[in-house]
Amino acid sequence: MSIAIIADVHANIEALGRVFEDMADRGINRIVCLGDVIGYGPNPRECLKMLYSSEVAIMGNHEEAVMFYGEDFNPKARASLEWTKDQLNSNEFDRTENYDLWNFLGTMQQVVEDGDVMYTHGSPRVPTREYVVPADIRNQEKMAGIFDLITKVCFIGHSHIPHIYTSDMKHASPDKLGSGIDIRKLGDRKILINTGSVGQPRDGDPRLSYATFDGNIVRFHRLQYDYQTTVDKIYAEERIPNFLADRLLVGR
Ligand SMILES: [Fe+2]
Repeated sequence: MSIAIIADVHANIEALGRVFEDMADRGINRIVCLGDVIGYGPNPRECLKMLYSSEVAIMGNHEEAVMFYGEDFNPKARASLEWTKDQLNSNEFDRTENYDLWNFLGTMQQVVEDGDVMYTHGSPRVPTREYVVPADIRNQEKMAGIFDLITKVCFIGHSHIPHIYTSDMKHASPDKLGSGIDIRKLGDRKILINTGSVGQPRDGDPRLSYATFDGNIVRFHRLQYDYQTTVDKIYAEERIPNFLADRLLVGR
């Protein structure tokens, strides 16, 4: 049975709702969430609640920051972090509901392994923090150190750039993969798969990105969603910097 693997929703309920519609069309109801459900966007509570039923819920740097401290957050990220924290503590809502939101955050894990499949937010070396980006394929020491910690397959998010990396130091973007990638054809190679971002794509394509996995084949999906609504909500909330809306229009 297939599973949907999503990352970096960033409080974008329009994008997340579109993923759920697409999952329903595909008959998929299992979901793995690779972290950063919250931060940047205007609907942190709604997105967390929608993901309570995730089979795996990984902690992203934004969850870590809201629960502990976001020491490396830039001023724009920090502004949205403080606003997000206030939303999650807001006394406009039922106290039990706030408790459930924080409780869900508290259940999130940094790394989950299921057989030879690993899930984490950034990288298996530094789960909530390390970025893996296409240029890293030239940094063989970094990539070898990461692959040393992977049994076979590892799904990540964090960079917001959908991409695959294999342990023979090759890499590809999803548009080069045709109908997907068949894990059985990897032989001895290991694979690191970034599913891209649901709620804040940064590869120049504003469409949301996620993946499905049936145990053998990984497929990437890009979908249009109503980002104008998300943009308008961010503009309407003065504590969230407008920059975080503008980037949704261009996928940067
Ligand atoms: Fe993120």
